[in-house]
Amino acid sequence: MRSGAGTLTFDRSMMCGAPAKTVGWRDPGFIHTSFLKDLWPNIEQFYKLGHRLSNGTIIWSKKYKFRSSPYPGQDSLQRVIMFGDMGKGERDGSNEYSNYQPSALKTTDQIISDLENIDIVFHIGDLTYANGYISQWDQFTAQVEPIASTVPYMVGSGNHERDWPDSGSFYDKMDSGGECGVLAETMFYVPAENRAKFWYKTDYGMFRFCIADTEHDWREGSEQYKFIENCLATVDRQKQPWLIFAAHRVLGYSSNYYHGQEGSFEEPMGRESLQKLWQKYKVDIAFYGHVHHYERSCPVYQSQCVTSEQSHYSGAVKGTIHVVVGGAGSHLSDFSQVQPNWSIFRDHDFGYVKMTAFNHTSLLFEYKKSNDGKVYDSFTISREYTDVLACVHDSCEATTAAS
Ligand SMILES: [Fe+2]
Repeated sequence: MRSGAGTLTFDRSMMCGAPAKTVGWRDPGFIHTSFLKDLWPNIEQFYKLGHRLSNGTIIWSKKYKFRSSPYPGQDSLQRVIMFGDMGKGERDGSNEYSNYQPSALKTTDQIISDLENIDIVFHIGDLTYANGYISQWDQFTAQVEPIASTVPYMVGSGNHERDWPDSGSFYDKMDSGGECGVLAETMFYVPAENRAKFWYKTDYGMFRFCIADTEHDWREGSEQYKFIENCLATVDRQKQPWLIFAAHRVLGYSSNYYHGQEGSFEEPMGRESLQKLWQKYKVDIAFYGHVHHYERSCPVYQSQCVTSEQSHYSGAVKGTIHVVVGGAGSHLSDFSQVQPNWSIFRDHDFGYVKMTAFNHTSLLFEYKKSNDGKVYDSFTISREYTDVLACVHDSCEATTAAS
């Protein structure tokens, strides 16, 4: 079966500032996207990429393989990797400027070594840290190629992809080095309605993922808020019990040093609007990057732990578990000296998360260090569909006394 590809590129005039527009500019070539439709779900597929020359001959790539996604709701073994802020490293041992992402290669290599046991990967923002030096995107895509050619490599947008003053980003910072999102929006495909607004929903078997874009406004009344509510509300939990929210900055809970200094333990304005949505729609786990270490909360609502259980959760979804997993490679962040009650596991090291859904009622969560790939924190969730229907604090649907 052959499937055509669309071709995109961009030019220097689309960059918002220096260095992307000046010394960091390099022509990106072409980015091809092909949609493989009508695949049978959840079976191994082989593919290669071809380029037809003007004389009609076709140059073929090597052969790759991947497993097509399970049908939404399909019951099969499903394993998900989640991390943020990885960046890239040099295979030849040379250091990039200030050695900013010392463990990016370790994380990448651990995931590659376990790739047979991984079905989909989420890198939730701060992808390359190219920061306007465009050739660094090639370095990053070469590094993750063994992963991204084999399983879906789903990305989120972070400050280092998007932020630039007066360019429509929520923050007026220069963290993207003038890229203002153009690179991220073109180099990787995400199923967003508008790729310049980097929020999207995506399904993988028994999982529904709602991926937010913290570099655009998420507060109540915003376009993104409507999307988030729609994403959470439209999943049939009987078919897709595992509901995951993810975003780059910590919209939920973090006892990172500077969030602790502020006393808010979150990105400013982070959870004020969103916590009622997570609670109403009974989000299982919310993931964040931006802060470069690992931290896991209890199931929490309005800063209160809703259960004292720490390693095995069952029954009604009383609150969402918030996880910071921004330690995939970029230099580590410090924790605040205060460890709030809701913070039940902190690790000042490089690592990533793996979730395994065994079926509709059983999920395993594991935090692994990038150094050795071993598990340093874990918990399980077991529950029935009727537990998702159960009323909990602020989640009840309206009822009527009529009969
Ligand atoms: Fe960030």
